[in-house]
Amino acid sequence: ADSRLTHIKDSIRSIPDFPKAGIIFRDVTTLLLDHKAFKDTIDIFVERYKDMKIDVVVGIEARGFIFGPPIALAIGAKFVPQRKPRKLPGPVVSQEYSLEYGTDKIEMHVGAVQPGERCLVVDDLIATGGTLAAGIQLIERVGGEVVECACLIELSDLKGRDKLKGKPIFILVDFE
Ligand code: PRP
Ligand code: HPA
Repeated sequence: ADSRLTHIKDSIRSIPDFPKAGIIFRDVTTLLLDHKAFKDTIDIFVERYKDMKIDVVVGIEARGFIFGPPIALAIGAKFVPQRKPRKLPGPVVSQEYSLEYGTDKIEMHVGAVQPGERCLVVDDLIATGGTLAAGIQLIERVGGEVVECACLIELSDLKGRDKLKGKPIFILVDFE
């Protein structure tokens, strides 16, 4: 085991009943206040991906924009944002996905990922897996190859990884 992971897990704040009753929200903003925890988090991802020939790090709004870019810079990859609807100014590809109630959508600029490029998808957390699954679909629809997904946190009871159609996912911390 990696002793850095205990400290990383301890640096994540848990807030009961946010955004609604019964949910324990895992808040990574406290990890960002802890230099060692933030640095170790990025280092662990960089150690894993530096020799995997990743062309593009794809970050999912909003917290994939915090952890994705430092990984991209360190491994020599591009960074591509996937955003909530109507935020990106150029032509986009869109992917709808289901939430607990209703649906949402994420978008990516056309041409940002080129056919055959090897992509790593980054977000802070996987819950039901709907967001990551949509992110993977967007990349595959434009011909990109998803090598792996990387998240700090998995809420493993929600079995979100079952939605990823066998794509590998690398996680630092599990909250059941
Ligand atoms: C959270 C989290 C993931 C997603 C995971 O984002 O950062 O992106 O939910 O949930 P899922 O696995 O059930 O799809 P949120 O919807 O809070 O959006 P935000 O980052 O823009 O606030
Ligand atoms: N933290 C952050 N994002 C989330 C959570 C959480 O606990 N649950 C679903 N999305």
